[in-house]
Amino acid sequence: MLEKTLLIIKPDGVKRKLIGEIIKRVENKNLNIIEMKMERVTLAKAEAHYEVHKEKPFYKGLIEFITSGPVVLMVVEGENAIEIIRHLAGETSPTKALPGTIRGDFSLDILENVVHTSDSKENADKEIKNFFK
Ligand code: CMP
Repeated sequence: MLEKTLLIIKPDGVKRKLIGEIIKRVENKNLNIIEMKMERVTLAKAEAHYEVHKEKPFYKGLIEFITSGPVVLMVVEGENAIEIIRHLAGETSPTKALPGTIRGDFSLDILENVVHTSDSKENADKEIKNFFK
């Protein structure tokens, strides 16, 4: 199925100059980046984006981190883009993220994990609406 998903290069990924590396992986897979921008996420948009994690013990740190510096937001489109981008990103847990994935190759940390990717069609639609008109 042709899908759209949201991929965010988080503040740690931007600081570590991984923007090109991540775009390269998305394009190598032959997915299409149909929208892209760099900006600092506002508190309101961060809270909307991570609403499902509101009650989690790591929520406050998560909001502080995602608003701590510029991010790159992109809408990626392709056949089964949601699941494919999740596979390119790798698992959230640094011990489970396999080498060859973005997190497996570039992150040791469960919070500062370089990228965010939508995990379902419903969330992808919601997340894209939050960041792109
Ligand atoms: P993301 O894919 O953006 O979705 C939720 C984020 O919460 C996740 O990536 C991590 O950055 C963060 N996260 C998930 N679990 C934990 C945890 N146990 N401790 C700290 N941060 C977490």
